[in-house]
Amino acid sequence: MLDPCRPAVILAPMEGVTDAPMRAVQGELGPFSFAVTEFLRITQWVPPRHTFFEHMPELAHGCRTLTGLPVQLQLLGGDAARMADSAARACELGASAIDINFGCPAKTVNRHDGGAALLRHPRRIRDIVAAVRAAVPRNVPVSAKLRLGWDSCAAIDENATMAAEGGATWITIHGRTRVAGYQPPIYWEPIGRVRRRLPLPVVANGDIWTRDDFRRCRDITGCRHFMLGRGAIGNPLLAWQVAADLGLISLPTEWGEHDEGWAGRLQRLIDWTQHMQPLRAEKMVARLKQWLRIAAWVGQFPHFDQIKHATTLEDVFRMLKDSAHTAQRLDNQRRIVSVPVTSYNQSLSEMV
Ligand SMILES: Cc1cc2nc3c(=O)[nH]c(=O)nc-3n(C[C@H](O)[C@H](O)[C@H](O)COP(=O)(O)O)c2cc1C
Repeated sequence: MLDPCRPAVILAPMEGVTDAPMRAVQGELGPFSFAVTEFLRITQWVPPRHTFFEHMPELAHGCRTLTGLPVQLQLLGGDAARMADSAARACELGASAIDINFGCPAKTVNRHDGGAALLRHPRRIRDIVAAVRAAVPRNVPVSAKLRLGWDSCAAIDENATMAAEGGATWITIHGRTRVAGYQPPIYWEPIGRVRRRLPLPVVANGDIWTRDDFRRCRDITGCRHFMLGRGAIGNPLLAWQVAADLGLISLPTEWGEHDEGWAGRLQRLIDWTQHMQPLRAEKMVARLKQWLRIAAWVGQFPHFDQIKHATTLEDVFRMLKDSAHTAQRLDNQRRIVSVPVTSYNQSLSEMV
C-alpha cells in the first residue's frame, strides 16, 4: 500500500466526513494514493461481520472504492488482544492493510482507553502494534497513526520508537498534542526528527492548507509521504498540487479535466450516498453543508453564510446557482471596470 520508495498523498481518516461515499467521490476526483477509513472502535468484543462491512464497504471490492481508490482499515482500542483478534477477523473478511489510531482526542474515546489516551503509555503502543502485527498475515501492513504526545511534543520520540519496535510498517504523525486538540500552531519539526532517526517510512500530517504549506512541511520534515485532511476536502485542487510537486502527476491537464465546481462535487456525493448508504434528505443537506463549511474555512467557498440556511437539497442547489450568478456578475463588473475605455463597448457586447 505505502511504497517506501514512492511518494504518496494519503486521504486522512475523518470521522463523519470521509465515510465510504466521500471516499468514493475522492477516488473519482482526487489523485490520492490511498485512503484510511474512519476509526472502527473495538470495545468489548470483536465486531460482527456486518459491522466491518458497514464500516468499510470496500472490503467487498478488494479494498478499493468503486472508483478505484485503495482503502486501509483503521482500528481504535486499548486492549491488545481484542485489537489483534479484530484485526485478524478483518483480514479474514478481506482487509489488506490495518492502521491503528493513537491520536483521537475525543473525551469519550480517551476515557475508554482509546486513541490519544495511549500516548501516555508508550509500552502499550508497542504491545498493541506487536499483537496486531502477529495476528495478521505477513503481507498485511500494520501502521500506527500518532499525535506528538498527550501534552508534550517530545513524547513522540519514545512513542514512535515503540510503534517501530512493535513492528509498524510505517507511522503517520499529526504534528500536535492531544491537549492542543486542533489549535494552531502545528509542529512539523518533531516529525522530521523521527523520520531521520527511525528506519521506517514516516507520513507527515497536519495543517497542510495550501501548496506553500505543503512545501514548507516537506522541507522541514524531509518526508516523501503526506496525509491530507481538511485542506484537501475543502480545496480539491490541493491534493493535485501536492501530487504534482511529488512528481506523481502532471498538474495542468489532469486538474482541468477533473474540476467541475461545487455543484458537480456535491451531486457526486449525493449520488454515491444514495448508491451506498441512502440518507434522509435532511441528513444529506447536513452533509453537503458540512463539506461547504470546510471549503469556506479554507477560502474556497465565499457563500456559506447564505447556504447555511438551506433546509432542502433544492435550496442548496438553487443557492449555489444564485451565488454562482452573483459571482459571475461581480466578476464581469470587475472586468468592465478594468478594461480601457476604448474597448468598453466591445467588451460589453461580448459579454451579453
Ligand atoms: C472531523 C474530524 C474527524 C477525524 N477523525 C479521525 C479518525 O477517525 N481517525 C484518525 O486517525 N484521525 C481522525 N482525524 C484526524 C485527521 O485524520 C488528521 O490527522 C487531522 O485532521 C490533521 O490533518 P489536517 O490538518 O490535514 O486536517 C479527524 C479529524 C477531523 C477534523
